Amino acid sequence: MLLILGATGQVGSQVLSSLAAAHYTGPMRMLVRRPEALNVPAGLQAEIMKGSFDDSDAVLRALQNVTDVILSTGDNPGQVTREKRIIDLVRTISMPPRIIKVSAITASLTPRVSVGIAHGEIEDYLRGSGLDWVILRPTFFYQSLALFRDPVRRAGRFPLPTHDGAVAFVHVRDVADVVARVAADRSIRSRILSLTGPKAWRLDQVCDELGKRLGRPVRHLNPPSLIFKLMLRFAGGMSWEYAGMVDGIAKACAKGDESHVKSEFEDIMGRPPLGLHDYLEEAVCLFRK
Ligand SMILES: NC(=O)c1ccc[n+]([C@@H]2O[C@H](COP(=O)([O-])OP(=O)(O)OC[C@H]3O[C@@H](n4cnc5c(N)ncnc54)[C@H](OP(=O)(O)O)[C@@H]3O)[C@@H](O)[C@H]2O)c1
Repeated sequence: MLLILGATGQVGSQVLSSLAAAHYTGPMRMLVRRPEALNVPAGLQAEIMKGSFDDSDAVLRALQNVTDVILSTGDNPGQVTREKRIIDLVRTISMPPRIIKVSAITASLTPRVSVGIAHGEIEDYLRGSGLDWVILRPTFFYQSLALFRDPVRRAGRFPLPTHDGAVAFVHVRDVADVVARVAADRSIRSRILSLTGPKAWRLDQVCDELGKRLGRPVRHLNPPSLIFKLMLRFAGGMSWEYAGMVDGIAKACAKGDESHVKSEFEDIMGRPPLGLHDYLEEAVCLFRK
C-alpha cells in the first residue's frame, strides 16, 4: 500500500497523473484535508481518507498496512515540526514503510538557504531515523516562472533577481515521474536524487525565449532584495515569510547554486528530462496579455 501525503499539492497531484500514466496497479491511499480538491485519474485504486497531517490519530490510521509513504507537504509554517512528527509516527509502526521525501536542491548547499533550511533539517532527521528513505532534491520548477506572469503580461518585465546566475530548471512532471518510478521500485533506498532539467538558463535567456513566443520583448529585471520581497508580498500576495524564501532562492540562483545539470533523472527514467522549450510550449498562454 502506497500512502501519498500532499496529493492535492502541485507535486502530489502530478504524482497521481504519473502513477496513472505508468499504469501503477498497486493499492494506494491519500490523507487529505480537502477531498474536494483531489483529482484522481481513472485507473488508480485509491482510498481517500479525510484528515490533517497535524492529527496524529488520522496519520496513524492512514499508515496502517502501508509499505511506502510519499511525503510532499509543501513549504508552510510548521513544516519541520509536521514532517518530523510524521517520521516519528512512521517509526512506531512494526513494519515501518519507506519514506520518499520531496525536498529541494537548496538542502544540498553549505550553508543551506531558503526552503533548504527546513528541508535540510527534515532530511537529517529522516536519514538518522533508521527508516528506509529516498530523498528527491529538485531545482527551481519551470512552473514557478509563472509566479511572474503578471508583470510579463502587463509590462513585458520579468523581475527575478538571479542576475547572471543560470538555473537548471526542472519540470514538475519530471519530478512526479521520478516519485512514481521510485514508488514502484522498492529496491531504491538510501538515495538522494538531485533532479534538474537538461540545461541551465540565465533569466535573460529565458526572457528571450519567452519573448520570441509572445512576439514582443520581455526584459529581465534584477530588483534589490527588499524591493523584490515587497513586490512579492504586496503585488504577489505572498506571506512575508514565503517572499523571503523566494528571495533566498533567487540569491542562490544568482550565485549559480542551481546551475549544475545532473544526470540522475536520465539514469532513473532512461530518457532526457523536459527542457525550457517543452515548458514554454505548454505554458506560454499564461504570459499572454
Ligand atoms: N516550487 C518549486 O519551484 C520547488 C522547487 C524545488 C522543490 N520544491 C519543493 O516541492 C515540495 C512540494 O511543493 P508543492 O508545490 O507540491 O507544495 P503544495 O502545492 O503547497 O502542496 C502541499 C500539499 O500538502 C498538503 N498539506 C499541507 N499541510 C497539510 C496539513 N496540515 N494537513 C493535510 N494536508 C496538508 C496540501 O493540502 P491542501 O491542498 O489542502 O493545502 C497539499 O496537498 C515543497 O516542499 C517545495 O520546497 C518546490
